[in-house]
Amino acid sequence: MRSQGFNEDSTASARYLIAKLWWRLAPILRANRNRVALALLCLLGAKAGLLCIPFLLKALVDGLDTDSGQLAIHVILLLVLAYGAARLTNTLFAELRDTLFGRVTEKAMHSISLQTFRHVHSLDVDYHLNRRTGGLARDIERGTNGISFLLRFFIFNIAPTLFEITMVAGILLINYGAEYAAVIVVSVLLYGSFSFRATRWRTQYVREVNAADSDSNTRAVDSLLNYETVKYFNNEAFEAERYDVALDIWEQARRKNRLSLFALNGGQALIIAVSQTAMLGMAAMAVDKGSMTLGDFILVNQFMLQLFMPLGFLGFVYREIKAALANIERLFGVLEEGVSIQSEPDAGALSVIEGRIRFAEVDFSYREGSEVLRQFTMDIAGGETVALVGSSGAGKSTVSKLLFRFYDPKGGAIEIDGTDIRSVSLESLRRAIAVVPQDCVLFNDSLRENIRYGRPSATDDEVDQAVEAAFLNEVVERLPDGLDTVVGERGLKLSGGERQRVSIARAVLKEAAILIFDEATSSLDSHSEQAVMAAFRHLAGRHTALVIAHRLSTIVDADRIVVIDRGAVVEEGTHASLLAAAGKYAELWQIQRRAQA
Ligand SMILES: Nc1ncnc2c1ncn2[C@@H]1O[C@H](COP(=O)(O)OP(=O)(O)OP(=O)(O)O)[C@@H](O)[C@H]1O
Ligand SMILES: [Mg+2]
Repeated sequence: MRSQGFNEDSTASARYLIAKLWWRLAPILRANRNRVALALLCLLGAKAGLLCIPFLLKALVDGLDTDSGQLAIHVILLLVLAYGAARLTNTLFAELRDTLFGRVTEKAMHSISLQTFRHVHSLDVDYHLNRRTGGLARDIERGTNGISFLLRFFIFNIAPTLFEITMVAGILLINYGAEYAAVIVVSVLLYGSFSFRATRWRTQYVREVNAADSDSNTRAVDSLLNYETVKYFNNEAFEAERYDVALDIWEQARRKNRLSLFALNGGQALIIAVSQTAMLGMAAMAVDKGSMTLGDFILVNQFMLQLFMPLGFLGFVYREIKAALANIERLFGVLEEGVSIQSEPDAGALSVIEGRIRFAEVDFSYREGSEVLRQFTMDIAGGETVALVGSSGAGKSTVSKLLFRFYDPKGGAIEIDGTDIRSVSLESLRRAIAVVPQDCVLFNDSLRENIRYGRPSATDDEVDQAVEAAFLNEVVERLPDGLDTVVGERGLKLSGGERQRVSIARAVLKEAAILIFDEATSSLDSHSEQAVMAAFRHLAGRHTALVIAHRLSTIVDADRIVVIDRGAVVEEGTHASLLAAAGKYAELWQIQRRAQA
């Protein structure tokens, strides 16, 4: 089972959670205070109607009783009408209250969902690499539902029910004596403490179910996302088996959960039945002795019925609130997930003038103990195109991720126009850099909207220009619906080279001063490679550009070539000078030439 910080055994942590929840919800309640106040008034109206009912019933029964002097028929009819009105008042106000407050609940859910969504997008790349998308979506959904539940039931169920119990106990005490009030108080206390204990004991099963639920969901989503890989390896049966195992665990957890719920409900029903029987027995004996009228008997019975209805519900609400709190806690876990890559509080905007880039003795590792960059130093002049070459895993993509501040270096510094990139706002830094990533994925939307993603405010004309600049015309012409073709999940209906040119078109639209091109042309045929490189060169002419290259033939005309090996620069110069130096680059060049021949 996944570990959870929220421990229901300690009311202190529950209180802390509620305080945090309150802190997030208070502004929403305050903004809607008129609605909240109206809803509370409706609640009072509904309860007032409810409290009248037993008295009207008593008056009716006594009025109909020939022994104690029958009332005139018009008075009886008036009482019947009053009874009907009281019932109507009760339900009408209750409905009105729910309708009024529903809007507040929806606003709260809206706000919290949006906050969470924003926050998840602000989290570090590392978080996203480690997260489980299916589970995360579940946690958010369950958490917001939990908040909605808590809002509705705490305000409109728990507090009013406690109020009602006090009122009824008071009425019985004044009208019929201490023993009736005592039965009410004792049974309510018994009921409360039993529910509390039993629910606490059950929590472990509820948690098991939640964890199993998340797990099986994660498994299913992950498997469905990777449908292609599943098919490549004929692993449908294997996937189904793994899902089956997850579902088995879920089923077991649900079984335990259901059995424990049975024990809880059974216990509660027993307490209610015993106290109701005791109360009616007392009232029946009193009627027999003549100290109570038939109407009093009906009144007592009606109060009991009315009181135990919400009380029975209170047990359910209490359980659900516990579950809601556990769900909200998971949601808050997401909301409180720390961000390590963020702007300094007083960070200014980066203003790129020349577009000079400097990596100064940068050390970096993804994990403790396995260095990826060691004393990596590289200077790129404004407007220069520098190619970064080296074997797979040498750290080339890492260099681009550091410049984009997906991660911070462990040592050294990265500067743009002499300013450390950690000292400027993240937003301005990322606005200044356009990245054509090594593997670009697209949204399942039209080609046009995917390109426009580079700058959502771009006009159709600007999108068309970007299409031209990225040499995408021939692709668009071939597509049945042109730019309006939907590209499929993650853009998989386009080829790798086509996707990459879409990426370039996006970068064109972004109009950033610095360009990073993490080339994956090894996956492209020569024709596509030519098209991609032509598109890139066209774009790079006006920018400071860093090209990560696999096939050296594509970067022979770069202003400068930097050779990286195991995270450090080993050589740099132009193509000609590096060949003349007969070092690592010349060796790579020879290998690729021979392979081509
Ligand atoms: N998120 C990550 N967590 C842990 N290790 C990583 C992560 N990303 C990359 N690495 C490791 O860092 C090293 C450098 O990776 P990088 O992606 O920079 O290589 P590269 O030079 O771009 O290779 P390629 O030419 O294959 O794209 C690799 O050994 C890789 O396994
Ligand atoms: Mg790479």
